Amino acid sequence: MKTLIQWSLVPALLIAAGAHAETAPDPRMAEAKTLIQQFAKTLQGELKQAIEAGGPVRAIEVCEERAPVIADELSTQSGWSVGRTSLGVRNATHNTPDDWEREVLDQFEEQRAAGEPVAGLAHAEVVEDEDGRRFRFMKAIPTAEVCLACHGDHLTPEVAAALDERYPEDNARGYRAGDIRGAFTLAKPL
Ligand code: HEC
Repeated sequence: MKTLIQWSLVPALLIAAGAHAETAPDPRMAEAKTLIQQFAKTLQGELKQAIEAGGPVRAIEVCEERAPVIADELSTQSGWSVGRTSLGVRNATHNTPDDWEREVLDQFEEQRAAGEPVAGLAHAEVVEDEDGRRFRFMKAIPTAEVCLACHGDHLTPEVAAALDERYPEDNARGYRAGDIRGAFTLAKPL
């Protein structure tokens, strides 16, 4: 019986592996990646400018005000829903993961623990749920040194106070460089 089961699985596995190898790159994936690049570039540009102009406390306002606006603008322009999420969120209203996102984030953590580079972690899937049939895509966001001023475990008292005031339930501190800070999360109705 044991042997039978094993043999019956082999062709299916071979077909699956073959099909995977021959699959052309999905154009939706390329679209999602372009949107992520635009999101990251715009936000990081504004963040850098704000830090240079007024230090990290000023930059907190930029993150708070601009991150959701940039995400909304990209969503309206593209027909995708564009956002960010994390297992430890600062803005719970906007960024709390749903069940699917939580599973993908857990999977990213496992992949990182197994030694895969965080910058390469991504997941694409066609999902059908109460929101209909959608192409969903997530890409991990690595924690860089520059992020630690607001997401690390040695915040200045000014930064800590500014964050406490805006985010009393903040769960996005204590990260180290190289950690997964979160992920971009995109969806397109099919
Ligand atoms: C000047 C402070 C500051 C710096 C520096 C900073 N962030 Fe944030 N980050 C914030 C704030 C404030 C929010 C909440 C934004 C909101 O309200 O939507 C946030 C939210 C996020 C989120 C969304 C998930 C969540 O926690 O709500 C991610 C992902 C994120 N930051 C990643 C990064 C990364 C990666 C870097 C470094 C490249 C970085 N941040 C640098 C202040 C900062």
